[in-house]
Amino acid sequence: MEPRATTLTAGAGIRFIRLCATVRARLPRERFKHVLGVARTGEKLARRYGLSTEAARTAGLLHDLARQWTAQELLGYARDHGIAVDEIEAAAPVLLHAKAGADIARREFGVTDVDVLAAIATHTVAVPGMSPLQKVVFLADTFEPSRTFAGRAALEAAALRSLDEGMLACVKASMEYLLARGVPIAPQTLEVYNELVRRHGQTG
Ligand SMILES: [Fe+2]
Ligand SMILES: [Fe+2]
Repeated sequence: MEPRATTLTAGAGIRFIRLCATVRARLPRERFKHVLGVARTGEKLARRYGLSTEAARTAGLLHDLARQWTAQELLGYARDHGIAVDEIEAAAPVLLHAKAGADIARREFGVTDVDVLAAIATHTVAVPGMSPLQKVVFLADTFEPSRTFAGRAALEAAALRSLDEGMLACVKASMEYLLARGVPIAPQTLEVYNELVRRHGQTG
């Protein structure tokens, strides 16, 4: 009924405002602006694709809690909390901020929704078989409005046509970036690329 729906919406709004205040106190100003952008962009995509807007904005807000940490801090956290470190993460520990962020969201923020936790854990490196929410957070992280790279708007437009079209465009852009710098590409990213191209054909 309408009053109940209104109450639920208001409750979710208050929860989000409280969460914003807590996260704002933990992050530098620019990083907070970014996570808020991911939350808002994620919310927009979630609405577009019929997903939980609350789940998307919670994941967006919490996804970069460990982004400012040093390599030593990330490797130490992974060791102390039983987080597996793969070959790519060992070579580039900054990637671990995704898994560490999911762990902090669960332990310190009480997030229990496994899809929200997975979305945080996979926001840096796309993996095969991602859920729609995981794709939404990955995409929102790539092109939220405070990102300023050339081609940002084209990636957003692709994501608004379909989640997979957005994923293919973002994965391609990310691979091009890594190739240009001679940086290794995670095998999971190649798998995602192949999976999307097989399903949707070449996009040129
Ligand atoms: Fe991140
Ligand atoms: Fe981010």
